[in-house]
Amino acid sequence: MFEAKKAVSLFPTTLWLFQIPAEVHGRINAELKRKLNELIAAASDENHVGGWQTEHDLHTLPEMQELTVHFLNAVDDVLDAITTTNRNVKITGCWANIGPPGSGHDSHLHPNNFLSAVYYVSVPMGGHQITFWDPRHQTRIMAPPVNETNVTNSDYANMQVQEGMLILFPAWLVHSVPENAGNDTRISISFNINFTDFSDDISAPNWQPDLPTHPEG
Ligand SMILES: [Fe+2]
Repeated sequence: MFEAKKAVSLFPTTLWLFQIPAEVHGRINAELKRKLNELIAAASDENHVGGWQTEHDLHTLPEMQELTVHFLNAVDDVLDAITTTNRNVKITGCWANIGPPGSGHDSHLHPNNFLSAVYYVSVPMGGHQITFWDPRHQTRIMAPPVNETNVTNSDYANMQVQEGMLILFPAWLVHSVPENAGNDTRISISFNINFTDFSDDISAPNWQPDLPTHPEG
C-alpha cells in the first residue's frame, strides 16, 4: 500500500489579505465614518432599504486618500506576486457599502476589472463574514458525505473579517455577503482596478504562450 507522497494544488484561486495596524486604521475609519454619515444624511431615504451604497468615485474624496495609498501599495504587492511587467493600473470604481442589521448582498462579480478589493471600516459581531464561491461549477456535480468541511471538499468559503482588513481578489471571483446578524451597521469600502491601457497593451491575441512546468512536476 503506497500513500500519496504529497498533495499538489494546480490552478489555485488566490486571495491576498492585508491588515492595516490599529493605530492607522483607527484614524482612517473614524474619518471615513464621519464623512459617510454626511453622505447618508444627504441621500434620499428610499436608497437606505436593505443597505446603501455611495457613488462609485469615493476614492476621489480627501477623506479617502490615506486608504487609497494603502490599497495601491497592496495592489503593487499582488502585481509583484504574479510577476506581471505591466504596472499601469488605475482605480475604475470605489464605493462604500452601508449594511444595517438584516442586510446582505447576493452573489456577484465585478466585470471588466482585473482585481477587486474590500476594506472594512465597521464590523459588528454577527456581520463579520464574506463568502467566496468556487468558480469551478462542475465540482458540485458530486458531493460525497464528509466528516468535516475544508478547502478540498467545499464549494464556498466564509471568510472572517475585521476592521482594518483589506482583501484583494480576482474580479471574476463570485462573492456574496451573508445577512448582517449583528446589532450595528456594517461598513465596507469596495475597490476595482484594471490595467490603464488594457486594449492597447495587453488584449492582443497571445498566440504562443509559454506553458509553465509545475514546480512539483
Ligand atoms: Fe462585490
